[in-house]
Formats: sequence, C-alpha cells, structure tokens
Amino acid sequence: MLTTILIVLAALVAIGAFLEYSVYREVNSTETLNVSGAKSALLIYHPGLTSFTKDVAYAYADGLTSSGWRVQATTASQQVPSDLSEYELLVLCWPIYDLHPAPTITNYLHRAGNLQGINTTVITVGGGIDPLKAQEAMNNTVCNANGNIVQSLTMFRSQRNLAAVTAEAAKLAQ
Ligand SMILES: Cc1cc2nc3c(=O)[nH]c(=O)nc-3n(C[C@H](O)[C@H](O)[C@H](O)COP(=O)(O)O)c2cc1C
Repeated sequence: MLTTILIVLAALVAIGAFLEYSVYREVNSTETLNVSGAKSALLIYHPGLTSFTKDVAYAYADGLTSSGWRVQATTASQQVPSDLSEYELLVLCWPIYDLHPAPTITNYLHRAGNLQGINTTVITVGGGIDPLKAQEAMNNTVCNANGNIVQSLTMFRSQRNLAAVTAEAAKLAQ
C-alpha cells in the first residue's frame, strides 16, 4: 500500500515538474516592429503553450506601431536588454499558469534591477482563476523594481478581444 502511494506521489511530482518546465521554458525570439518609429517601447512576453499570449502581445504592439511607435518585441529570456534607457515604455505580457507570476518575467525584472521609473504596461493573460492574486503580485513586483504602471490589463482566454487590447495601446500611445 505504502509503495503504491509513493509511486503515485512520485508520478504526480514528475508530471508537475514536467508541466512547470513546459510552460515556463525560456524561448529566444526577438524582432523590431516599425523600425523608424519616433518613440520606442520594449515589449517582453512569455509565449504560452498556444499562440494566444503572443497574439495579445502583438495586438498591443499594433496599437503602438499604428501611432508611430517603434516596438522591440521579445520573448522573456536571458537575451532581453536590462538597460532600458532607450525606451519610453516597457510592456510585460504574461500568462498565468500556476497561480503565480511567470518566473521568466520576474527573473527578468530581478536582472534589470531598478526600472528607473519607466512607464510600464502589464498585460495578464489567464483563464480567469486568480485566487492568489498573481496579477496583483506581478504589479507589486514591477512597482518594487521602481516601474511606473500606467496600464494593467487582463485578457481572459474566453474573451479573445484583441481589438480592445489594441485600442488600449493606441490610447496610451497618443
Ligand atoms: C498548466 C496550466 C495552468 C494554468 N493555470 C492557470 C491559473 O492558475 N490561472 C488562470 O487564470 N489560468 C490558468 N491557466 C490558463 C492559461 O492562463 C490560459 O490558457 C492562457 O491563455 C495561457 O495561454 P495558453 O492557453 O496558450 O497556454 C492555466 C493553463 C494551463 C495549461
């Protein structure tokens, strides 16, 4: 009986570790949108298991580029610049997976250290289950790093209202 319980526990731990690794693995991808834009934003997103989080991130980028901004869109990884002096805006777009802020984003914030008061938009993507207040925790991490949150948006998978995200960015970009 004890052996069975231990085997089941070990299997659960292994499944949990695999899920954690799968959803939070770092991916290297970066591109610059509207290269000649007058103002610059650094958009950091954690790509989810599907394209949804990237779609949300790029919908926000659309709102900026269509208002004349240059956007460096990059996945959250070691390659992301920690010197933010050339950017007017930092955008963080991340999916909730384990009731907590995405470690790839918080690791970046810890690497960056002091955000020097940069205007910051936080976009939380989720399924609508946030009992441990992951969104608030992410916002607190940004504030503690001296980021100035100008927009905190939520996009639930069931909504899929990408036009609303673009409109929020356009509002800010004016
Ligand atoms: C393993 C796993 C854990 C999840 N945990 C949460 C959660 O704690 N809270 C929540 O609101 N949504 C949760 N979701 C839903 C995701 O946040 C949602 O599907 C979001 O769109 C992420 O993008 P994806 O579907 O491309 O992975 C979870 C999804 C998966 C696959």
